[in-house]
Amino acid sequence: MRKDSRLIVVANRLPVQRVGRGSSARWERSSGGLVTAMSPILRRHAGVWIGWTGNAGRAPAPFTHERLMIRPIGLSEREVHDYYQGFCNRTIWPLFHDALRPPEFQRDRWDCYIEINRRFARAAARSARRGDIIWVHDYQLLLAPRMIRELRRDIKIGFFLHIPFPPEELFAWLPWRQAVVRGLLGADLVGFQTFSDAQNFSRAARRYAPAEGTDTEITCENRRIRINAFPISIDFRDFERRANQSAVVQRARQIRQRIGPERRIMLAVDRLDYTKGIESRLRAFEDLLERKLIRVEDCVLIQIAVPSRENVTEYQEMRMRIEQTVGRINGEFSQPGHVAVHYFRRSVTPDDLSAYYRAADVMLVTPLRDGMNLVAKEYVATRTDYSGVLVLSEFAGAARELRRALLVNPHDIQGVAATILQALRLPRDEARKRMMILRMIVRRHDVYDWAEKFLEALER
Ligand code: ADP
Ligand code: F6P
Repeated sequence: MRKDSRLIVVANRLPVQRVGRGSSARWERSSGGLVTAMSPILRRHAGVWIGWTGNAGRAPAPFTHERLMIRPIGLSEREVHDYYQGFCNRTIWPLFHDALRPPEFQRDRWDCYIEINRRFARAAARSARRGDIIWVHDYQLLLAPRMIRELRRDIKIGFFLHIPFPPEELFAWLPWRQAVVRGLLGADLVGFQTFSDAQNFSRAARRYAPAEGTDTEITCENRRIRINAFPISIDFRDFERRANQSAVVQRARQIRQRIGPERRIMLAVDRLDYTKGIESRLRAFEDLLERKLIRVEDCVLIQIAVPSRENVTEYQEMRMRIEQTVGRINGEFSQPGHVAVHYFRRSVTPDDLSAYYRAADVMLVTPLRDGMNLVAKEYVATRTDYSGVLVLSEFAGAARELRRALLVNPHDIQGVAATILQALRLPRDEARKRMMILRMIVRRHDVYDWAEKFLEALER
């Protein structure tokens, strides 16, 4: 990026959250890959971040946080319902994740989605000076690139989709498919997690817009739009460093001690989302116990699940089913002193998360569909002694890079059960070889590399 140009990030959520109450209330940087990736670039180039605070109500006035200009966008209760919970999370989210739940198509929610995209676009266009770069993120803002382009023809616009882009047959369901494709084609560069997502989009673009070209370059209305895969990643060195801090090492030892030093620990860490395959994973574990292929005296499953989108019915129903399944497995198989499944429905601190990753002999990352899945990469980065086995779904974007994990089809419960068994029995040397390769890949392609490559391509 040119030294004097600024980066304007436009994302549904802000990189800061309000903590404390009354006079002690303050903004704190929130955790998460996107914030981590953007922070150093934003510090270098002075930037602006446009996003929603996460609560219904009027937007607070723009402010500066750690040299970053924050421009909050306000959403009313109705808008949270129709735009965020509605169109984003009950239409686009399920449709773009293999229609794992039936997407809902409601005109008033679509109208609201247009309205909010326009609000973000106007704020972006107003914030940008000549020579600045605008980077729009994710499925909540599919229309924003074109809206910004209409207001500011002089600005470079990039777009990155963090979730999958569906194949043609699924995308065709969307009553507003033309508008969505045209919205994205407002950008100069459209980035995806995998090359097949990029291909799906470029096919949709050629079908639903007056566009011509190849999988990686399209011409539409006399403009050239580039399309490519930029697999997102993590701050590898930060995870590595944290894993070796004495507080984390000690906490990992304590977890092992409490679970029972002789037991093998299987770990899963997810947002409570139906895309994550939590129920199928639990059933695979149950199947192994039922068939007496494993015993609770020898192993345990720890499922850490962070609450998410709790006002959306599908998430409430899924949570109930997961809790029933955990109850059933524990009722059936736990023994005094040996609980079969430890289920924690909460967010844990970064140190605790690292300690769990460190303590886990086997990591189960088995989403039914996932844009990337950073948890898989975080586990790999934490295994600084090259031990540990990663079981990874073929349907996570991460599987395209992490080929040396034990790959599974999460719809095949018995197949997952067999792979868990394989992971538990994997010879130490073989596990080590696999982990060395996985670590090399994530170390090379970290989040800084991701952001740099995207911005370089955008400026080309
Ligand atoms: P998604 O973006 O769909 O939530 P990812 O796996 O890509 O899925 O990213 C999830 C992020 O949330 C990871 O950085 C992970 O460490 C973090 N995370 C998931 N569960 C928890 C939890 N219970 N507590 C704290 N952080 C969590
Ligand atoms: O993976 C898509 C994503 O939007 C992430 O960027 C985000 O961390 C996660 O889903 C949580 O979503 P929400 O903003 O709805 O809590």
